Amino acid sequence: MNLPQNRTRLFEVLAGLLATQLIVFGLGFYMLHEPVRIAESQTQILHTQLDDAMTLYAQNCSVCHGLSGEGIGATPALNNPALQTMAYDDLTKTIARGRFNTAMPAWSREDGGALSDYQISELVGLVQSGDWNETRDRVVNLGLAPLVPFTTEPDPALLAEVANLPDGATLQTAVTLFAANCVACHGADGLGTGIAPALNDLLVREKTADELTRTVTFGSAGTLMAGWSNVLTPEEINALVTLVQRWDEVPAGILPAPNVPIATTEESIALGGQLFSQNCSRCHGPEGQGTQRAPALNVKAFLTDTGDLAIQQIVTNGVPGTAMPVWGDRMTEAEIQAIVGFIRQWEANAPEVAVPAKGGGGGPPWMRNNNTTATTSNSTTQQSTGQGTQSGTGQGQGQGQGQSQQTTTAWWQTFDWSILLLIFGVLSISFTLIFMGFESLQRRPKTKPPEK
Ligand code: HEC
Ligand code: HEC
Ligand code: HEC
Repeated sequence: MNLPQNRTRLFEVLAGLLATQLIVFGLGFYMLHEPVRIAESQTQILHTQLDDAMTLYAQNCSVCHGLSGEGIGATPALNNPALQTMAYDDLTKTIARGRFNTAMPAWSREDGGALSDYQISELVGLVQSGDWNETRDRVVNLGLAPLVPFTTEPDPALLAEVANLPDGATLQTAVTLFAANCVACHGADGLGTGIAPALNDLLVREKTADELTRTVTFGSAGTLMAGWSNVLTPEEINALVTLVQRWDEVPAGILPAPNVPIATTEESIALGGQLFSQNCSRCHGPEGQGTQRAPALNVKAFLTDTGDLAIQQIVTNGVPGTAMPVWGDRMTEAEIQAIVGFIRQWEANAPEVAVPAKGGGGGPPWMRNNNTTATTSNSTTQQSTGQGTQSGTGQGQGQGQGQSQQTTTAWWQTFDWSILLLIFGVLSISFTLIFMGFESLQRRPKTKPPEK
């Protein structure tokens, strides 16, 4: 054995040791890391479930339980600590089967509801461990903030007028019942909302009394329309059907929408600003200060005199006979509400007298309003409802946890580094083996001949 050979041998042994150590270390790290990985993926699943649940809540529950689970009128709050500790099965049952003799409908498909068992379990998760500020933002961003409180009051003067119609007493009863039970979904004056169709509508009036009675009594399976036979008597249901069939005789405004501010979130205001500069600024000026083509909107008098609902109606229907276009057929209600929310935030600093932008073209590009950041709109697929019942100003809390943020995790944050270590270890040991193989092949002819 000469010295150089000894050295190679030593090198081989050391390399082998190093590789083994690397593998052991890599494996150990991987195994130690495994619980963390499992926990991480569980958190991920929980996160996705809560995310789904917030949308389900917005679409199905917020109309009765409020923007952020705070409850509306007689409808109980869901952001209630007692529900967080309620047994999982009891809570599941309540949502799946509803509460007999109350307005709380059954939601499971088995009971004619609209939700799968999985979706119901997601909602149970939301009630027990969800974030209600985030939920509020979701409801608003989807344009599903409740239009009218679950229960409203009919206009007393107009209600008195109804008494003079044929069978006026029945219609009066029906209007009152409608205000108490149906207006949240079917809208002020029965004109519909983003979640339920208009009933004050020619096509509905043409339906037979039998058909309408069946819908009101048994509901419409798989939709938000629950059966009312548990809550209303057959006479009350008949009265409501009479109202639906004779709504054209009832004076408009008998079930007015209360003028509540439109709820906003950071995202909805950003979206509103973006839509305003794309669609409105060329006539109304980049800062809403007006141009030769259209009046100022960013001015005290207009903003104090015009409620959110009125602005929404002007934007939706346009101003006939003027250059102000109809926007209702080009934008969703959620988008129009976002614009109204954006216009409304000018009010605090609006000037008494507006100084119109020159030229009426929105000014040269460098003068345009560019401080409205674009955010991804998750409102495009949704129909919307109308005005929030909550204050549009108290939104400091749950800001902008939109879906856009979840997709921005960089690959290196989710990459499992222990795998790299493992691969490295395996590679180095295989290199050592190959190297040792070569060595022994080369050695054989040199050492063997002298032995013969
Ligand atoms: C049409 C109105 C309406 C809708 C829509 C609605 N609820 Fe309810 N909900 C009620 C009413 C009313 C009650 C109270 C029932 C009672 O008196 O026990 C209630 C009760 C509950 C309770 C029990 C609360 C408690 O303190 O015991 C839960 C949980 C609940 N609802 C969840 C939901 C979920 C989840 C959705 C959406 C999938 C939903 N609700 C949709 C009206 C509604
Ligand atoms: C939680 C929301 C909600 C409430 C509350 C509600 N509805 Fe509905 N209603 C709906 C939805 C959604 C539909 C559409 C169902 C469908 O697509 O089949 C509907 C459909 C109807 C229809 C059928 C319309 C047609 O075109 O045939 C009638 C009639 C009706 N509702 C009456 C009422 C009455 C009366 C009340 C109050 C006692 C009421 N609804 C309360 C959501 C609601
Ligand atoms: C083609 C020009 C044009 C565009 C684009 C336009 N408007 Fe108008 N808008 C007008 C004119 C003209 C009036 C005044 C109508 C009248 O005489 O009552 C008006 C009136 C209004 C009013 C009522 C103002 C008041 O003092 O009563 C509001 C609110 C409004 N527009 C909002 C919008 C919004 C929001 C957009 C974008 C989605 C928009 N407009 C886009 C031309 C335009």
